[in-house]
Amino acid sequence: MIVDHTGLQVSAASQEAADAFDRTLVAYLRFGNDIGELLKTTYSLDSEMVFANVLRGYFMHMMGVRALVPKAQQALEAAQRGASAATPREQLHVNALEAWCALDLAGATAAWEECTRAYPMDVLAVKMLHYSHFYMGDSVNVRNSVGRVWHAWEGREDLPTYGYMLSMRAFGLEETGDYARAESLGRAAASLNEADAWAVHTVAHVCEMEDRQTDGVAWLDSKGGYGNWNNFRYHLVWHKALMLFEAGRHDDVLALYDDGMFDPKSDEYLDLTNDISVLARLELEGVDVGDRWGVMGEKAKGRVDDKLLAFVDAHFALALGATDGAAAKDYVTSIDDYSDAEDDTYAHVAQIVGHDLCAALVAYKAKDFDGCIEALEPVRDHVNLIGGSNAQRDLFAQILIDATIRAERWELARSLLSERTALKPKNVRAWRQLALVLKTTGDDTGAQLASIKADVAGMG
Ligand SMILES: [Fe+2]
Repeated sequence: MIVDHTGLQVSAASQEAADAFDRTLVAYLRFGNDIGELLKTTYSLDSEMVFANVLRGYFMHMMGVRALVPKAQQALEAAQRGASAATPREQLHVNALEAWCALDLAGATAAWEECTRAYPMDVLAVKMLHYSHFYMGDSVNVRNSVGRVWHAWEGREDLPTYGYMLSMRAFGLEETGDYARAESLGRAAASLNEADAWAVHTVAHVCEMEDRQTDGVAWLDSKGGYGNWNNFRYHLVWHKALMLFEAGRHDDVLALYDDGMFDPKSDEYLDLTNDISVLARLELEGVDVGDRWGVMGEKAKGRVDDKLLAFVDAHFALALGATDGAAAKDYVTSIDDYSDAEDDTYAHVAQIVGHDLCAALVAYKAKDFDGCIEALEPVRDHVNLIGGSNAQRDLFAQILIDATIRAERWELARSLLSERTALKPKNVRAWRQLALVLKTTGDDTGAQLASIKADVAGMG
């Protein structure tokens, strides 16, 4: 019987082909820059392998580019040709890919959940759940999908994928606010395997959420070889930029943006969202970002028909709003039209929150701060449904706060900032903003206290 590295049966022409697939999977887990090469090697050993075709289809979808959906469909058809001889586990993956090709990410998620229940050692299914729960804004299941298989992974440090499982577990804990356990497991995973970018990333997230900028920058610098990682390395730089931003080091953020983050050749959505969110954050503090928006606006214009990930589209709305108000408005209308006409996961999210969020961001960039508040405030508790991490979506919370201040909606500003400082007691910017709002509303004592809190938080 041909098996994978965990002992699960695999349909392949040879054990060598199955081993090559395993190496491809591990490269994906570590964000390696050799994933494409390794997948090619797998195909060279077995051009019909169901898992190779399934993974190719998954990769096509994960690019978040609608023009690649037909290529995912081709991979599905190739996988289906071999499915009659496939194992039940492989069949579940084919079912997941089929649902995804119908743009039913929720349906794909159900297939992966079924898969991990029957086959808890199926690393690919666990990783796909990590992706799908993350992009459907379900942080509880980002955490629990790993927890549900952990009975089979406990004590399996002998497996080369154990560390990657540990870092996924850590990240789920981080996204649900269990920062101490997340940091402990994230550091353990990074020690087990220095190639594990997700472990490095998880600890950075903990530092971001706890406003431990000095710790976070030191951590990222110590792990900053960014050796054989793919473009995900830019996201780690983005995390460093966020920390420098919160520390008020705006010139350093811009330098990092230019020299370590912005890649003019890249059209990968994660890169674009990293870049857009840094520019938007800097502008919250009144920093002149020069002509950096221009290229982002052009890239966003080329992607307005993607409509696959609401998280990405919210960033495109910002880039369009910053560069071309008319195109930005058309974009918001097109999201509305799409959500009325289609019945896929994106349309569902657009109806609940995606459309209103994009409308709010476009209004904000047009300096229609009341319009921004009107669109965003009622849906702000559902923004998680667009997907992404708490740190990434925090931009939208900051934009709403900024809009309330600029619109002089002092009671709402006070309430949002009070909520924010209660959640993030070490966040200097939030305390400073609260001090400003309290002073403006005549609460001098409260303003003084908030200023002291800002100073104390600034001391670390
Ligand atoms: Fe992140």
